[in-house]
Amino acid sequence: SLTADLAGRHVVVSAGGTREALDPVRFLGNRSTGMQGYALAATAVARGARVTLVSANVSLPAPAGAEVRPVTSARELREAVLAAAADADAVVMAAAVADFRPDTVAAEKIKKTGGRPAPITLVENPDILAELSRDRAREGQVVVGFAAETDHVLEHGRDKLRRKGCDLLVVNQVGDGMAFGTPDNQAVVLGPDGLAVEIPRGPKEDLADRVWDLVAERLGEPGRH
Ligand code: C5P
Repeated sequence: SLTADLAGRHVVVSAGGTREALDPVRFLGNRSTGMQGYALAATAVARGARVTLVSANVSLPAPAGAEVRPVTSARELREAVLAAAADADAVVMAAAVADFRPDTVAAEKIKKTGGRPAPITLVENPDILAELSRDRAREGQVVVGFAAETDHVLEHGRDKLRRKGCDLLVVNQVGDGMAFGTPDNQAVVLGPDGLAVEIPRGPKEDLADRVWDLVAERLGEPGRH
């Protein structure tokens, strides 16, 4: 976009993937590189927004002009996102947040136990997207989720949009080398009243710009607050 249509807006983007500690040296993690979230942050800066980028374990250079808040675990990500969301016009949850974490973090490195490894017990993490959507920090705040699905993409996406309660859900198909760690992405953005906007395969920056187009539409006129 060539217009500063997000000028005067504060947007929050989460990016990367959380790590849930098992012991001082080990964690449960995921394959997210943060590329899509960083592209969202960079394009929002280019469109004039003040951008808070809550970044979980990403090794990419920080997008110029974004304020980066590094976090490690899902619970840290929750704290940082909720704090930044307090005065935000839009929140885009592009981070891959662990659904579960080990119930305890061993104080010392877990030792080999002669062929009988200890089981890992998991507990559920808070669903940050659902919480943000339910307890809007301000009226008219636009909340956007991402969903990676391997099958029945539209069906699962619709279901997830309803369950999470967000305004828009960017659904992409993963597997077959798409999405994780690749510069390209393709998706369908789902919204209320059957809205389904197809975004063809292309650079993650293009997908980011289409997402901001849809967010900007929902924000309406600048200076409304
Ligand atoms: O349920 P699922 O993990 O597929 O949902 C993905 C969306 O929900 C993403 O936007 C992700 O950032 C968000 N999420 C969250 N808190 C969780 C799990 C996922 O905010 N505990």
